[in-house]
Amino acid sequence: MQRLLCFFFLLPALVCAQGGMWLPSQLEKLNEKEMKALGCKLDADAIYHANQPSLKDAICQFDGGCTGEMISPEGLLLTNHHCGFDAIQKLSSLQHNYVEDGFWAQSKAEELPAPGVTAMFVRRMEDVTLLALQDVTEGMGEKDRQAQIDKNIVQIRANTKKEKWEETLVRPFYNGNQYFLFVTITYNDLRLVGTPPSSIGKFGADTDNWVWPRHTGDFSMFRIYADKDNHPAPYNTNNVPYKPGHFLPVSLDGIEEGDFTMVYGFPGRTDEYLSAEAVRQTGAVLDPARVSVRDRALKILDSYMRKDPAVKIAYVAKYASIANAWKKWQGEMLGLKTYKAVEKKEAYEAEFTQRINANTDWKFKYANLLPRINQLLREMEPYALARDYYLEACVRNNEILGLVASLNSWIESYDKNGAVGFNTKIQENASRLEEFYKNYRPEVDEAVFAGLLELYAQNANPDWGGTYVKQMVAGRAKPDDFSGFAAYIFKNSVFPNQAKMKALLADKPENLALTLKNDPAYLFYKGLNSAYIDNVQPKLQTLTPSISLLQRQYMAAQMVVFKDKRFFPDANSTLRLTYGPVRGYEPRNAVHYEFQSDLDGVMEKYIPGDYEFDVPKRLIDLWKAKDYGVYATSEGKLPVAFLGANHTTGGNSGSPAIDARGNLVGLNFDRVWEGTMSDLNYDPAICRNIMVDIRYVLFIVDKYAGAGYLLKEMKLVQGQKKHKKKK
Ligand code: ARG
Ligand code: GLU
Repeated sequence: MQRLLCFFFLLPALVCAQGGMWLPSQLEKLNEKEMKALGCKLDADAIYHANQPSLKDAICQFDGGCTGEMISPEGLLLTNHHCGFDAIQKLSSLQHNYVEDGFWAQSKAEELPAPGVTAMFVRRMEDVTLLALQDVTEGMGEKDRQAQIDKNIVQIRANTKKEKWEETLVRPFYNGNQYFLFVTITYNDLRLVGTPPSSIGKFGADTDNWVWPRHTGDFSMFRIYADKDNHPAPYNTNNVPYKPGHFLPVSLDGIEEGDFTMVYGFPGRTDEYLSAEAVRQTGAVLDPARVSVRDRALKILDSYMRKDPAVKIAYVAKYASIANAWKKWQGEMLGLKTYKAVEKKEAYEAEFTQRINANTDWKFKYANLLPRINQLLREMEPYALARDYYLEACVRNNEILGLVASLNSWIESYDKNGAVGFNTKIQENASRLEEFYKNYRPEVDEAVFAGLLELYAQNANPDWGGTYVKQMVAGRAKPDDFSGFAAYIFKNSVFPNQAKMKALLADKPENLALTLKNDPAYLFYKGLNSAYIDNVQPKLQTLTPSISLLQRQYMAAQMVVFKDKRFFPDANSTLRLTYGPVRGYEPRNAVHYEFQSDLDGVMEKYIPGDYEFDVPKRLIDLWKAKDYGVYATSEGKLPVAFLGANHTTGGNSGSPAIDARGNLVGLNFDRVWEGTMSDLNYDPAICRNIMVDIRYVLFIVDKYAGAGYLLKEMKLVQGQKKHKKKK
């Protein structure tokens, strides 16, 4: 009920604990009071300070898409297992299968360099809106506006005082109503310190993904190395462990329901301020289309993976990545519907309209916004659907067409510039291809290709590629014989064939270019792509900027009209803080989820030999002996994961869960099924983030892996928290 009240009457946010991903530099103004009311003991400037050490100095963007945190004065970094997975997989071989068996360096000398892995810290951030929007006028077209802003940003970056090892970036916030400058520093000598085996780090795999209760030890550890001045330097044996401006003490106190937590990290993308129509379209039109394509791809992949363990190894990571979004979209569709997101947005819009109608000035400025947005969105709908079908069926989940698409500009450049440029790119593309073939099976891809094209031909508007696909199929095989057509392509194209491709790359550039340009997979891709470029793209290109412009105006209008409401900017892969209590939830009548899981639950799910639910023997032994040491709860259980009402999204993986005093209590890695809609419709009653309990991390490192020496470099704290009465 409180949820409804908050929504309809827009009570002051303090009562609602509304969630949000806040800017660390604005906490004092917007959040400090609420945070303290929720139990936080830290001042805003202990969390973020531009010139003094603060919590932010312990937080980095890990490898571009995740978050990591410093947990020792010697650059020890904690992140998720699924964030480190790429590096772990690359470092593995048949002799050293770290994915299967885990790995723990027994000393710094044993740590494994992880080439390409990065850690980016934010030194400071500044509101540069006035400078970024200088000379931008109301009447400007979107193109000119963007050109002016880009020019301003170049100026801003040039005028920013920074050290030579630092970088700058400027990003739009609130749909382009505000701009912030970030001064950052990126380290690129990272080394793998340790990882549990997948049977712990990935326990539950795809079946448990996005679902509570969860029993995954989703963590891994790296160490950042720097030059002797503590500055970034490429890998070098002379580099020394990085000394962070701050590292998080690790709490052994554990958490209880209601405890204050905050999650500090780099959330990727949310869209909380769209119109009801946009949300309806996502949940009712676009999500179902994307899901249907991935459904088909996953079923085909699964059938091959079950038949052949080697195929399974080759495709397990790809399968997990396709399945991750596939499952999330289904949760999102369900959540939007069950918790009436569209109806709530409509009520909000009714309130918006009522308020502007009562104010002549607002009415003049804003009355057209929503009707216009909705009109354009409806006009856009078939094209947005065509785009998603095309991307899902012909690019993202279609390996061979995806490969051709990614090489297309290189191949085309031969026509324009001849051997110039083409030559130098051969090497670059050779390594890209090497990477591609490592886990590629043409027979699997052929089946996926046939299946997805069939779906595409049936569903894509005839003019937007449907007819083209059918014609091509009929031309090479019998009508609707998609398998026959796939067989033709895969037999005659060089792209699926590593040996042929390798020989070709060693050939003269003119032969290489000519062969690729006449390749049947390439020609088919070109035709398909032209249908898209000619018939879908132009409309998208005219509608998208108009909708962005209106969305920017609608965002600004919401902030004016609902002055009593606090607005956080949508996630955009920049540093954010979210906070909320540790809390279970009630997704449906008579269903209550506890806030914490423990090792007994791992054993409940145990299926010997299963690829998702096997449990290593050593962990079973520790469970039987109840050998949990100081990591047990007061009830003698070993905590594994817990829930909080923190507003998180993709990119928050690996983010620390920090307690009221600034200590590490958990590691964020997922959200609950009913709450995956939070990217469009955050609802504090339902949406929960899932964290690994830090005591489980310590237990695995110490008791399971025997790497307890790592704990010596951490700052373990205990007894800081007065235990509250259980509610
Ligand atoms: N759902 C989590 C996040 O988006 C975890 C993904 C990795 N785990 C997995 N089972 N695929 O990205
Ligand atoms: N697993 C997600 C990630 O990799 C975080 C969970 C979420 O999307 O909330 O970033």
